[in-house]
Amino acid sequence: MKSILVVDDEASIREMLEILLAKEGYQVATAANGTEALQSFKKHPAAVVLTDIRMRPLDGLALLKEIKNLHPRTEVIMISAYADTETAVEAMNEGAYDYFPKPFDIVELKSVIQSAFSKYAGQPEQPTPAGTPLQYQTKPLIGHSPQLKRVSELIQRSSQVVSNVLITGESGTGKELVAHLIHENSQRRDFPFVTVSCAGIPETLIESELFGYRKGAFTGAQTHKIGLVETAHRGTLFLDEIGELSPTMQVKLLRLLQEKSFTPLGGTDERLVDIRFILATNKNLEKEVMEGRFREDLFYRINVVSIQLPSLRERPEDIPLLAHQFLENYSRSLGKKINKISSYALKVLSQYPFPGNVRELENIIERSVAMERSTIVLPESLALAAFKGVIASTGELPQITLPGEGLDLDQTMDKIEKNIIIQALKRALGNKQRTANLLKINLRSLRYRMIKHGLEQE
Ligand SMILES: Nc1ncnc2c1ncn2[C@@H]1O[C@H](COP(=O)(O)OP(=O)(O)OP(=O)(O)O)[C@@H](O)[C@H]1O
Ligand SMILES: [Mg+2]
Repeated sequence: MKSILVVDDEASIREMLEILLAKEGYQVATAANGTEALQSFKKHPAAVVLTDIRMRPLDGLALLKEIKNLHPRTEVIMISAYADTETAVEAMNEGAYDYFPKPFDIVELKSVIQSAFSKYAGQPEQPTPAGTPLQYQTKPLIGHSPQLKRVSELIQRSSQVVSNVLITGESGTGKELVAHLIHENSQRRDFPFVTVSCAGIPETLIESELFGYRKGAFTGAQTHKIGLVETAHRGTLFLDEIGELSPTMQVKLLRLLQEKSFTPLGGTDERLVDIRFILATNKNLEKEVMEGRFREDLFYRINVVSIQLPSLRERPEDIPLLAHQFLENYSRSLGKKINKISSYALKVLSQYPFPGNVRELENIIERSVAMERSTIVLPESLALAAFKGVIASTGELPQITLPGEGLDLDQTMDKIEKNIIIQALKRALGNKQRTANLLKINLRSLRYRMIKHGLEQE
């Protein structure tokens, strides 16, 4: 029988929990303070104890220590009023299983109790992060959502062929990681993987970077230089931010893709290369084609296999898995002993819209690990981390001066509105009511605006 001891000085809470947990099939004992609880525990040691913090005589923290002394395997969950957060943190450091701020969410409480029981019974507490079973990867693709499983399948399949692959997705969704994985799973894995960002190199340099040059091709070309295309021979060339290519470069790229040949600057000889191309963009290339900014023939050349990466908003079930993996990585690399994210912090994360996708989640976890002084990640340090991120990424709102040619007022106001909403969401850690309060609008109005700006789905 699963035994649980509920300790709270408020009779109404005790009763409510007793009824609720008995219905779930637990054998429930109750106590009104730490001393009573300890007496009861000595007679019948419970597997899980759920305790309030502020009680007399003997408060929750003291009770925790006694229980851990008597029966180290018993899992203790703290329930705290907001003012007791510090004590809750101390409790976590003393070995409490988790803590819940009041008022608590019943569904969540039930699930934490359940996992505390599994831990007691020696079962794994959480599923281990399910990296996809791909071979040779330096870094696994994490996620168990159906969307991500589909991406893994596409990676597998495109690794077996040589067709060009186009990877699309918002910033931070993992385009570069996916490109790497395709290469590492392909026959070309022992040859180079070369990345070229089409946005990072100035137009005048792209050509010489890509194709190289012959001595004397231009002033300053004192030697031959091998271009990146040639470096990637027999391997994979990853062309990132392809939507930024100028019309001239689009023509040159088309030739490279069609004929697998190129001529270095200042050279006359045509050189053949054996290259697998992977291309990525966060732009909607179909729209770019329709609006005349991207060549249609090039688009069809590129878009043979297409992998569309879902935003993190579309697959919130991957958030806990990713967060735990990043926590493990950063705790290790920053030499910290943080091994848990409090369930409340996890809930807060799951509600946040992540405009910067996985990269933003990774940054938030990295920053909170760096800041956290206890052994778990708490909502407070997440808030601080997210907020610092806002300052770093958007800074203060720019002083807007009307440009000479004028501006589109509606569009500008839209951009400002979106920017402010994102800042407020970050400050409120995705809590919509608090975001609405910060912006002095009601919840409905906030929802409407979030949908309008693509921050929430209808
Ligand atoms: N599914 C995932 N599992 C593990 N890590 C991920 C996953 N998706 C993204 N990441 C990590 O998130 C970070 C951002 O990913 P990446 O650089 O591949 O994104 P991107 O789509 O190329 O972004 P951008 O458009 O801004 O260049 C990287 O550190 C990457 O390893
Ligand atoms: Mg990228």
